[in-house]
Amino acid sequence: MAGSKKIVVLVSGRGSNLQALIDAHGAGKIRSRVIAVVSNKPGVFALERAGQAGIATLVVPSKGVAKAEYDRTLLQTVSDLDPDLVVLAGYMKILDAGFVRAFFGRLINIHPSLLPAFPGLDAQRQALEAGALLTGCTVHFVDEGCDTGPVILQNSIAIEPNDTVESLSARLLPVEHATLVEAVRLIEDDKVIAPGKQTLVLK
Ligand code: GRF
Repeated sequence: MAGSKKIVVLVSGRGSNLQALIDAHGAGKIRSRVIAVVSNKPGVFALERAGQAGIATLVVPSKGVAKAEYDRTLLQTVSDLDPDLVVLAGYMKILDAGFVRAFFGRLINIHPSLLPAFPGLDAQRQALEAGALLTGCTVHFVDEGCDTGPVILQNSIAIEPNDTVESLSARLLPVEHATLVEAVRLIEDDKVIAPGKQTLVLK
């Protein structure tokens, strides 16, 4: 059913993509709204951003906790929030298969490369070291692999000869924000026919 989605955002750090969703809702660009932010790390800036926006924050600590226990607590915590859409935005842990199965088709990630190129950590560095002329970002459904799920939306930028990881990341970040917001808009408008091996996006 098209319409506003209740979004839960999973984070581990800075939260600029979270901010993009908060701002897009505030500006009326998306109807969907972030109802809660869940972090596996206490004290990260994403939690502060959520707090400033009056959004509920929850910390499910992963450090020093057995993986099975963490996975169980995270699944319970997010399920209790009853989201329509779960967004991974700088969430730095691999979700376990049970979580992915529970939310498959309503679980998306933003990744800073044109997948399937450069999955995993340090995607901007990987693109530079490979000598790519283009890179970009991908919003995709999350499956049980690492950055392997069906692609929803991608946008590219050129890599300049003098680019560093920092300069490239800084230029890519606003493109990430716009791509994530656009993906949520397409999903709330029921324009993403999802998800098989390929995703059909009606524009
Ligand atoms: C972004 O580059 C995102 O693509 C990647 O992690 C970074 C998170 O940045 N998955 P932020 O926390 O949203 O500012």
